[in-house]
Amino acid sequence: GAASLGAGALAAAGCGTGSSAGPAGGAPVRNPLRVPPLAESAQVGGRRVFSLVAQAGRTAFVPGGEAETWGFNGSFLGPTLRVRRGEDVRVVVRNGLSEPTTVHWHGMVLPASADGTPHQTVEPGGEWSPSWRVDQPAATLWYHPHPHGATERHVHRGLAGMLIVDDDEEAALDLPREYGVDDVPVIVQDRTFGGGGAFVEGPRSGAGMLGSTILVNGTASPGFAVTAELTRLRLLNASTARSYRFGFPDGREFDVVAGDGGLLPAPVKRARLTLTPGERAEVVVRLSAGEQVVLRSYPQELGVAGADTGAADEFDVLHLGAAASLRPSAPLPARLVDVPVLDPAGAVAVRGFRMRVDRINDERMDLARVDHVVTVGTTELWDVVNVSDVPHNFHVHGTQFQVVSVGGRAPAAESAGWKDTVYAPPNVPVRLAVRFTGHADPSTPYMYHCHLLWHEDSGVMGQFVVVEPGGQARPPVGGHAHR
Ligand code: C2O
Ligand code: CU
Repeated sequence: GAASLGAGALAAAGCGTGSSAGPAGGAPVRNPLRVPPLAESAQVGGRRVFSLVAQAGRTAFVPGGEAETWGFNGSFLGPTLRVRRGEDVRVVVRNGLSEPTTVHWHGMVLPASADGTPHQTVEPGGEWSPSWRVDQPAATLWYHPHPHGATERHVHRGLAGMLIVDDDEEAALDLPREYGVDDVPVIVQDRTFGGGGAFVEGPRSGAGMLGSTILVNGTASPGFAVTAELTRLRLLNASTARSYRFGFPDGREFDVVAGDGGLLPAPVKRARLTLTPGERAEVVVRLSAGEQVVLRSYPQELGVAGADTGAADEFDVLHLGAAASLRPSAPLPARLVDVPVLDPAGAVAVRGFRMRVDRINDERMDLARVDHVVTVGTTELWDVVNVSDVPHNFHVHGTQFQVVSVGGRAPAAESAGWKDTVYAPPNVPVRLAVRFTGHADPSTPYMYHCHLLWHEDSGVMGQFVVVEPGGQARPPVGGHAHR
């Protein structure tokens, strides 16, 4: 319940951003928001090469001790990877853990062999170097492990990072874009801390693990010092189970400029915005000089009865404290980008996905079974319906899709652009237009699944392969199960 959510984060008074000594009078201590460093890269033969090492370490989040954590190139989370449309990239992934893992590029449209699913497992001490050409619009994506049956645990320990795609269209717009200054990654996660500052794994509700302390970029009770009139927040729900409904106590509106897969056609004004696990949004917030506001999460309507989803919880996420004088920002453009609309009439197939507590269409995930075969370059309609009494969402690899309808109605404007993850309320049909661009490989499947990670690990996942016209699936290569 709300009462258990971080006591420090709940106290609304006092806003000394960055003060490390608690001010007299009991105002909460704010910790300066950690901003993940931008990953370094090298140009090797016309290719941008990054390096990620999954490693174990210890991290202090709350007073009283340290947690055993995992991170990429550090002890918790990972650096922000920044790539540009048109660029050839390679990521050298090394596994410094004592068990197998993988790294999946969530939201990236790339060949299945580079996707980082359980079919591309990296053994302890091993290395995996996928390469691909970035060919999709500017967007806020992310990366995280995807080991079969263990994704929740690997992400919970701390393996996740942001992956930003840039392109010329985005660069031509007057948007805040100084990383860590007026363009800020906001990776939202929840954890429960035990004695000695350690993470507690479990217990689980119908949604999964719901932590009692909010972390942003790995910072508990975070405060960010705002220095410009407009600040772009790249919100990423990297929690294993919790959904958030973001907003401000004074009900002020912010502009949603991007969803999962890129910019929207135009900014959408909202006072509240829901993100389920895995979803992203870019929002632009206006502060006046000297102003102190708190980005909070508010109770939400997930439409689920009888499961503790955390939907009733209300808590602080990120304190924003504006400097006494702010750098002027250009007004937001009224129009952003053209988002071509996938025409449902052009779809070549309709498929149904009935999501239950631990399976889809009566099948639990099986790495050796290909559930669907689709044809490269085509668009299909995927009808998703949650027929269980727990919350689910639906994520598809290797594509960005569009939401055609939710319960027969057009989606909200903030969900009308490219998406890769969408909420599936119980008994409400969600129709998606899914386009399979560019990468046929009959023997390497992509995944679709619920992004509540305990559900994913429990079997709410399936596989599809993309083939050339008239092609057939071949038995999946390289897949093996690890628990
Ligand atoms: Cu973000 Cu299949 O995952
Ligand atoms: Cu689920």
